[in-house]
Amino acid sequence: MTGGLDPDDLYAMPGIKRPAPHQGFPEREIFPDVAYQIVHDELMLDGVSRMNLATFCTTWVDDQARRLMNESLDKNIVDKDEYPQTAELEKRAVRMIADLWHSPDPAATLGTSTTGSSEAAMLGGLAAKWRWRKRGGTGTPNFVCGPVQVCWEKFARYFDVEIRQIPLRGDRLTMHPDDIADYCDENTIMVVPTFGQTFTGVYEDVAGIHQALDDLEEKTGLNIPIHVDAASGGFLAPFCAPDLVWDFRLPRVKSINASGHKTGLAPLGAGWAIWRTAQDLPKELIFNVDYLGGSMATFNLNFSRPGGQVITQYYDFIRLGRTGYGRVQNAIYAAAQHLAAGLAGLGLFELIHDGDPKRGITAVSWKLKGEQVFNLYDFSDRLRARGWLIAAYPLPADRDDETIMRTVLRHGFTLDMADMLLADMVRCLKQLKAHPLTTSLTSAEAGGFTHNAKAAVPLSGDGDADTNGKAKSGAGKAKS
Ligand SMILES: Cc1ncc(COP(=O)(O)O)c(C=O)c1O
Repeated sequence: MTGGLDPDDLYAMPGIKRPAPHQGFPEREIFPDVAYQIVHDELMLDGVSRMNLATFCTTWVDDQARRLMNESLDKNIVDKDEYPQTAELEKRAVRMIADLWHSPDPAATLGTSTTGSSEAAMLGGLAAKWRWRKRGGTGTPNFVCGPVQVCWEKFARYFDVEIRQIPLRGDRLTMHPDDIADYCDENTIMVVPTFGQTFTGVYEDVAGIHQALDDLEEKTGLNIPIHVDAASGGFLAPFCAPDLVWDFRLPRVKSINASGHKTGLAPLGAGWAIWRTAQDLPKELIFNVDYLGGSMATFNLNFSRPGGQVITQYYDFIRLGRTGYGRVQNAIYAAAQHLAAGLAGLGLFELIHDGDPKRGITAVSWKLKGEQVFNLYDFSDRLRARGWLIAAYPLPADRDDETIMRTVLRHGFTLDMADMLLADMVRCLKQLKAHPLTTSLTSAEAGGFTHNAKAAVPLSGDGDADTNGKAKSGAGKAKS
């Protein structure tokens, strides 16, 4: 019985004949089918996630992963006592990742799942700040980095740490080991190389930065640790470039973050922070929760979090293992290289990252060769008409004169899709050349869908030189 409503056709029901509530808390209830359809239909305006090549995050999971997500919809990961097996799977996953990243003692080290790399980065940064303070650090703590994702600007601001971002110079699109010493002092809590730069996809030279810090210590006695932001590279290099030394094989690397929901292949909402040894995570940051009559250490910003992501991440690990991850990730690299070769063949673009597993993540980035009748924002916008979501944006300071484009390829992106994209690119370029725009798009006009994040209110002095005359945080926009 529908209380006088016509049950035959959803779209004839009263709930759908008036606009959905937009403001104020709705007064009346409606049938779940009606509410579902309203929400479902509204979401048709969203982009197709698998054609969203601006995101780094998982957009394809297998049926078993979906089933596990569904089965664990009701599990709060903080309820260790109530869901001890979920807690057990998290502990196993931490040990597995510690092993993958060559922790000296994977069984004994500490680590945690998080909601993503941002939370994991903040925890790594907080631990570094506490270690510095315990070593007797006073003054204003700082950390040194290259062009970083916005989570590091948030860390700096939320936790009152100065960010010393080394500006880009010329064709150096990563933080360079030669520059490190100039930016470090006795208040430097860590150096943060990005292993898989957000802007270009290229790996920063963690081993080179490590050597620069060894040299600095020899000259000055300063002993500065490294936190590696391996948001995307952490689940790629171990399988596809195992000889690249970037992880706990380097003794200064005290902590690493990675996104399970990016190249870790888990569904959205999974990240990891792992410490080299248990001693590298200050005890003051640990809070215990009840667990099987005892207690279990937690170190997270949130209390409640969904358990499904961790459960599914563990499923991915045991399902694929090293060989499976290698197979999946190499297939994505192959698609990236295919796309890069196709792009290079168009003759209009200069590749910055061509999907080489030793140089960077499963991404392709490029800039325009010389002057054209269109810019990359126009190109990005034109591609959007075919459903492809591909970010175009300026590089960070001091190379913000250069606009680039980047595609991040992920599990589920096939060679056929790369060919469809290339065909659409050719079509769009032909149109842009045949019908040149009188005024090209600007970054602000085109940037709506590139996941840009910028502080609403700049801190006074942002972008100026700091008291040492060094350039401060200058990155314009960070993508996720
Ligand atoms: C290098 C890097 N660090 C951190 C992040 C933030 O990760 P998350 O979106 O998992 O919070 C990203 C996101 O793209 C990233 O590329």
